[in-house]
Parts: sequence; C-alpha cells; structure tokens
Amino acid sequence: MGDIETPIILLLLHSKIQQTMSIAKNEYKRVTVKSLVDMKRNNEKISMLTAYDYTMAKIVDNAGIDVILVGDSASNVMAGHETTVPITLDEMIYHASSVVRATNRGLVVVDLPFGSYQSDSKEALRSAIRILKESGGHSVKLEGGKEVKGSIKKILNAGIPVMGHLGLTPQSIYKFGTYTVRAKEEEEAEKLKKDAKLLEKLGCFALVLEKVPAKLAQEIAESLIIPVIGIGAGAGVDGQVLVTHDMLGMTHEFNPRFLRRYLNLYDDMAGAFKNYIKDVKSKNFPNENEQY
Ligand code: KIV
Repeated sequence: MGDIETPIILLLLHSKIQQTMSIAKNEYKRVTVKSLVDMKRNNEKISMLTAYDYTMAKIVDNAGIDVILVGDSASNVMAGHETTVPITLDEMIYHASSVVRATNRGLVVVDLPFGSYQSDSKEALRSAIRILKESGGHSVKLEGGKEVKGSIKKILNAGIPVMGHLGLTPQSIYKFGTYTVRAKEEEEAEKLKKDAKLLEKLGCFALVLEKVPAKLAQEIAESLIIPVIGIGAGAGVDGQVLVTHDMLGMTHEFNPRFLRRYLNLYDDMAGAFKNYIKDVKSKNFPNENEQY
C-alpha cells in the first residue's frame, strides 16, 4: 500500500513543479498579436508604453509590459520637433532596432512615419518591409482609416501585422489645426465607427484610439473583436497606452487631462544634476573612494 502511495505523491509533486515551471516560463513568453486578441477575449486589459532606446526598453520590458510602441512621438520626445511629421523612416528604424535588442517579452510595434505609406500602397509595403527586416520589429502601426485602406491591405497581404490608429492622428495635425478631442460631433463619430469596423475587416490586429470621448470609445471597443487600446479614450476600452517620458514626468510642459504621472522625474533628475554640478565645483566629487 505504502509503495503505491509514494509514487502518487511523487507524481503529484512532479506535476505541481511542472505547473509552476510552465507558469514561470509563460511569464517570459513573447506576447504575440494573437495573445492580444486572447487577452481581450479573456477580459484582461492590455498594457502598452512607448520606448525609443535600448535602456528604457529594457526597463519597460522587464517590468512586464505587453506591447512596446516605438512611436513616432520620438520626433517630439527624442528629437525636440514640434510635431511627429519630420521623423524619417531611417530614424524610426534606428530607434526600433535599439528597442528590439532590449526586449524579450513585449510585442514591438513600430510606427510608420509620415510620408512612408500615404502616397501609394507599394511604397507603404516597402516601408513596412524595411522596418521588419532592418529593425527586427514585429509589426507596424499607421494612422487613418478608409484613406489608407490600400496601404493596409498591401502590408497585411505580405504577412506583416498592422495596428491601426484613429481619433486624434497627430501626423494630420496641420489638417486638424489643434490637438483637441476628436469625434465630438455626430458626423465625425460616425466616420470613426465606420473606419474602426473597416480596419477590423481588413485584418488589423488592434487599434489605437486617441483622444475621443470615453462613451464613443467604449461603444467601438464593444463592437469589435480586435482590441482597442486607448490614450485619452477612457476606461471602457481594452487597454491603455501612454508615452513613457510623460508618465514618468520627464516631460513637464505637456499636461493633458488623460495623463497620469507615476513619477516626477524632471524634478528628480534636475535635482541630481544640480547636486553633481555642485559636487564637481566644490571638489567634493570624486572623493578618495571614487578614484584609482
Ligand atoms: O507615437 C506615439 O507615441 C503614439 C501613441 C501616442 C499612441 O502613437
């Protein structure tokens, strides 16, 4: 009897260990476009943040983020341009390859920059292929609905996953004139709903909705199978994205209502730099232990 019980206990123990091991393994498994659709189905919210360089991407990825966006917001945050319009495809590839080298878990989505996909679908495909081949990114994001349908189809046909971006589309800032909330009027809201449906039908794996009324965003998220990731689109969507430098409080001129700051790094960093300058000037740095 005892002889029979022992192996059963051992078997149970073994299966428990295996379960624990597979949970631990899963934690580090790469998030895929399919995982995101599964997360929506399982009612698990999707977390997404931007990164443009190796060091930041490593921290974000190790923290367990689902999606890392190499956003064209690098144009503002990294290069100091007023808009996202000037950033080039070569610059996006440079940022994306630094991010890819740092990540093991998060799905890396790379923005197609302004001018790299709007003029014709062949150019759009060439741009998307360059991003995947030269940076190692896993998918691309582009702005717009019906207007860029041909480009989306062409990229998807080549097997490259596409994330859509509707609502406030910063690459069209000169058309809108302001960065205010979009689709408050009935006509624009109707177009937004149609575009969202179209992107899903074309085969986009997810959709960013930027700065639109929360009720409308929720309605769109509920009408789609693919996940809707919001920025300034309320809590009724399937996930959230923020610009990392904004949520860390490294930037401080930008204060939209939707932005939650988790740190105040601008002040912390400025304080550290001031202390360093003071220590160098007063000959307090380096001390005896900080030299050879
Ligand atoms: O470029 C970017 O950072 C973005 C997010 C604001 C969604 O597109």
